[in-house]
Amino acid sequence: MTQLRFPDGFVWGSATSSYQIEGAWDEDGRGESIWDRFAHTPGKVIDGSNGDIACDHYHRWRDDIALMQRLNLQAYRFSVAWPRILPTGRGAVNQKGVDFYSRLVDGLLAAGIRPFITLYHWDLPQALQDEGGWPARSTGEAFVEYADIVSRALGDRVKHWITHNEPWCAALLSHQIGEHAPGWNDWPAALRAAHHVLLSHGGAVPVLRRNSPGAQVGITLNFSPAEPASASALDYHAARSHDGYFNRWFLDPLYGRRYPADKWADYETAGWLTDFVQPGDLDTIATQTDFLGVNYYNRAILRSEAPGNAPQTNFLAPEAEWTEMGWEIHPPSLYRLLMRLHLEYQVPQLYITENGCSFSDGPDATGRIRDERRLNFLRDHLAACHRALTAGVPLRGYFVWSLLDNFEWARGYTQRFGIVYTDYATQQRLPKDSALWYRDVIAANSLPAANSLPV
Ligand code: FCB
Repeated sequence: MTQLRFPDGFVWGSATSSYQIEGAWDEDGRGESIWDRFAHTPGKVIDGSNGDIACDHYHRWRDDIALMQRLNLQAYRFSVAWPRILPTGRGAVNQKGVDFYSRLVDGLLAAGIRPFITLYHWDLPQALQDEGGWPARSTGEAFVEYADIVSRALGDRVKHWITHNEPWCAALLSHQIGEHAPGWNDWPAALRAAHHVLLSHGGAVPVLRRNSPGAQVGITLNFSPAEPASASALDYHAARSHDGYFNRWFLDPLYGRRYPADKWADYETAGWLTDFVQPGDLDTIATQTDFLGVNYYNRAILRSEAPGNAPQTNFLAPEAEWTEMGWEIHPPSLYRLLMRLHLEYQVPQLYITENGCSFSDGPDATGRIRDERRLNFLRDHLAACHRALTAGVPLRGYFVWSLLDNFEWARGYTQRFGIVYTDYATQQRLPKDSALWYRDVIAANSLPAANSLPV
């Protein structure tokens, strides 16, 4: 690989989310969120842990900004905890919560770091859950009010807004698969939740534009590029169905195509569609945005379970490498995904809002963290981004997930995604080799030739 230069103005950042790093779960008037309730319920999080303390970022944010500055980060994507702003989801504003984010934004700007705010990264106020949560239309209305409050307070300084993080997770993983809060197994509720998340996104876009003049507004989706495990028609159908369930169910309505007809028919046959789509909803969802945030971790290889279907085919990719999440490492799928979003959906601007990997490498005797596998992962995915840029895809920036090792949802603290190691006993932050490498990539605005890598 020769040196790969990125365009001038390409934005280099890192990402986190409120529940995963802040801690201080009951401080300064913060209300309970569905993740507090879920993680405090035995059996929901694999190691019995929760986000009560997490990385204690709520108290250490000044040091964390200084850390970002040392790593040359130009932008920081973080989320606002809705229950800090509105402890019961709507109504009275908790000024201390607003002040926290206001100070954080000021601190970032003073350090020359551009804030990218995600309004919803899954910590719904429990009070709204008690009124029905995302399957209830009223939760979407409350979200628009919350977006109004946050953007009135911060919209003068924050110019990049992401309404939602990963609607597939907020709706399906949480209400159909039940792995995330609130932990339901209810298909009709999950599809209603998905609709209300999308609808609340569309409702918030004009509010954010009004309160934050000149701002760029978008949404972040997570993608699961789907490939058939064999050339059989059944596997092809399985892959197409997965694509509809995971990717197109969200992309299509956001880009004005309404819900995909194939999946709509499947869900209708199954009896899972209730009358949640009201007149005008699809126009609201398709409100034009400035950018799409892309979270990419891995692809999916699909094999139909139908009898007699290519039984010799391995469901999993042969000779693949895996991260400790059990996710396949496959950078070419990121390139293909970016091309697809550009060519099939004409997305005007793209950001990688998350990409990264879980490897548990910790400090050696000298305190150095040789996370060579993460460094290789980042290099190969950035090379895929560069390839897409060269092909003409309007990719504007890249945010590594994550700045810090943190609370990885249902996996608790068993997974380490950070470019910086978190010592949870002392709350010390230790930059891993990948962080130092990333720092140098940012300074050079280019990926070094492979033979000059520092490990
Ligand atoms: C994404 C989430 C993020 C983090 C990574 C590993 O789905 O948005 O919070 O957990 O996965």
